[in-house]
Amino acid sequence: MEVRLQKYIADCGIASRRKAEELIAEGKIQVNGEIIRTLGTKVHPGKDEVRYKGKVLIPQEKKVYLMLHKPEEYVTTVKDQFNRPTVLDLLQEIQERIFPIGRLDYHTSGLLLLTNDGQLANKIMHPRYKIFKTYIATIKGIPDAGKIEKLRKGIPIEDYITAPASVRLLKKQKNQSVLEIQIREGKNRQVRKMCEGIGHPVIHLKRICIGKISLGDLKKGEYRHLSQEELEYLKKL
Ligand code: URA
Repeated sequence: MEVRLQKYIADCGIASRRKAEELIAEGKIQVNGEIIRTLGTKVHPGKDEVRYKGKVLIPQEKKVYLMLHKPEEYVTTVKDQFNRPTVLDLLQEIQERIFPIGRLDYHTSGLLLLTNDGQLANKIMHPRYKIFKTYIATIKGIPDAGKIEKLRKGIPIEDYITAPASVRLLKKQKNQSVLEIQIREGKNRQVRKMCEGIGHPVIHLKRICIGKISLGDLKKGEYRHLSQEELEYLKKL
């Protein structure tokens, strides 16, 4: 599809549309080797070659930021070696090349953020920022206060000791109980291993928050764009 030259230039991120119009009028833009000064000129992205100061301009993808309520039995990798459904199957309407920020296990449901903004994704995943993540874990049996304290203080898992966590016992049922667990690390299967570590394996696991970003009442399998406020919060971290 053809677009106006000034829009094409703006989409490349080098100038606003207004500024792009000035660059065109000033004779600073070449299309297919020819200087173009006419504002309405249309170009075909991918076919026509647009240059500014000798450099070819390539349009950048618009940045998108989404949250998905991941259902169980979806992988958070972009491709799966066993051909299992991936979270991207639920986001086929999104044209941009998005990827998940971090992981959730195949059997874990809940809040997953996705974007095509690599810089922000790296920041959120980097351990330095220590963003807390909140999980609701339904576990086998009912842990006593001592075991819950162990989870809080940190327990040995394989070759490391987990960092202090916030843990609340939300519900006691006959053969199971429900914990809210907040951790700032994100080691592989960490919550499952922590609960196993105190002898109460996880039955269901759901992530409800990443920092202050909350899943709210988004239904399983559904997604939405982050609000401006949510995005600003993530960018400020
Ligand atoms: N901890 C787990 O054990 N699984 C997840 O998916 C996320 C955190």
